[in-house]
Amino acid sequence: MSTHVYFCLIVTISLFIGAKTDECPPDREEQSHEEAKLHKDLFCSYNYDYRPVKDHKTSVNVKVRFAIKYISFDALEETFTVHSWVALKWKDEFMSWIPSNYGDIKEIQVESHLLWTPHMALFNADATSAMYQSDQFYTTCLLANTGTVTCVPNLAHTGICRTSLRRWPYDVQNCTMFFGSWMHTGEQVNFTFYQQQPVVLEDFQDGPGWKLLNVYHERLPGNYHCCPNSTYPMLKYTFELKREAAGPAAIVVVPSVVIVILTLTSLLLGVKDTTRLLLICFSLYGHFMFLTEIGYEIPKYSADTPIILLFLRDSMIVTLVGILETLLLMYLRRQKLPAPTWIVNINRLVYRGAGKYVVFTEIEPIDTTDTKSLTGDVPLGEVQPSSDPKDWLKLANLLNSVLFIIALLVYLVLICTYIPYDK
Ligand SMILES: *[C@@H]1O[C@H](CO)[C@@H](O)[C@H](O)[C@H]1NC(C)=O
Ligand SMILES: *[C@@H]1O[C@H](CO)[C@@H](O)[C@H](O)[C@H]1NC(C)=O
Ligand SMILES: *[C@@H]1O[C@H](CO)[C@@H](O)[C@H](O)[C@H]1NC(C)=O
Repeated sequence: MSTHVYFCLIVTISLFIGAKTDECPPDREEQSHEEAKLHKDLFCSYNYDYRPVKDHKTSVNVKVRFAIKYISFDALEETFTVHSWVALKWKDEFMSWIPSNYGDIKEIQVESHLLWTPHMALFNADATSAMYQSDQFYTTCLLANTGTVTCVPNLAHTGICRTSLRRWPYDVQNCTMFFGSWMHTGEQVNFTFYQQQPVVLEDFQDGPGWKLLNVYHERLPGNYHCCPNSTYPMLKYTFELKREAAGPAAIVVVPSVVIVILTLTSLLLGVKDTTRLLLICFSLYGHFMFLTEIGYEIPKYSADTPIILLFLRDSMIVTLVGILETLLLMYLRRQKLPAPTWIVNINRLVYRGAGKYVVFTEIEPIDTTDTKSLTGDVPLGEVQPSSDPKDWLKLANLLNSVLFIIALLVYLVLICTYIPYDK
């Protein structure tokens, strides 16, 4: 019973609405001012599916100007997005009128979906975001009586940018975007730059973590061997971006210098107690900690390794060598047996010649056992008179000094080649 009532109600309502849309109320009249007349005349048998030229052999010249507002990278830094106002200007041959016939109207505003519009496609677009990013735009365009159409849609283009992180965090990236017509040849739709100011950077705001240094623009004529009679011109924009590095630099560059100083200092300490061993082991541990830390900081999936990682890797190896060296020195210092002749010879060679200027470290002798070996072992008579038990210490001093100098040189080279700096 109630369903019947509802059905009647719905039928009545739809009849009422249908009656309302079918005919205007009698007090409404068709507008008759000049602008309405112009609209009506312009769009009379106009079809926005076809290029707006009277002769199909002429090309539509579309002028493009980018007013760039904002640029951002995505978190993984594979794609970047440019937000801009894109001014597009072309001539629609069917959209001209004589102003004196229409009350001196020289220009009118028209919705872009009523007009033919050029489909400017981004060729290196990120395909995932292209799902919702179309080369069509919807905005209000300005139409002048000469037929010149100017549209300024606010567009965001997402392109793929291969980043090179070698000099991270002081890297500069060049990201390029190619625009053109997806299917039209240059003889049909010819994209060119505005003669003046093809790229405008007023009101530009730097995106998070990046600073725009420059925008280069270039028109590629697009002549290919396959098709001598047609061209495929493209507009190429290159955005040169610099990373804002203050944060990453504080986290990465300064600590790596601190670690280097720690390793070098510990190599200068004596081996009498275990301070040196502890300090240098701590430095190695610091390397591990640090590598784990900056693993989170450095963007992954980069084409090349950031040189700061190579620096840490090599610094780790130097530190490991430092640990082994310390163990060796501790072993040498505890030697009580007389040194073999080749060691004595090396010592003699070094300490007599200019080599003695190289040796600057002092490994302390073992206090008690040292004197014992000097006095107590005499009755055995096995110690050769030429052998000095301090030969081991001399060798240790020599080794320590030479290895320190080598480590210093290695670090100098590493710092010069691997520590990124702000250009
Ligand atoms: C980016 O491209 C411009 C122009 O091609 C060039 O001058 C500049 O050196 C490039 N920068 C980098 C970091 O490759
Ligand atoms: C396209 O525009 C460029 C630059 O204005 C011009 O050199 C070229 O001849 C044009 N191409 C066609 C097919 O009109
Ligand atoms: C290019 O145009 C010339 C002259 O009109 C014609 O002879 C030639 O076949 C055309 N080539 C192609 C690939 O269409």
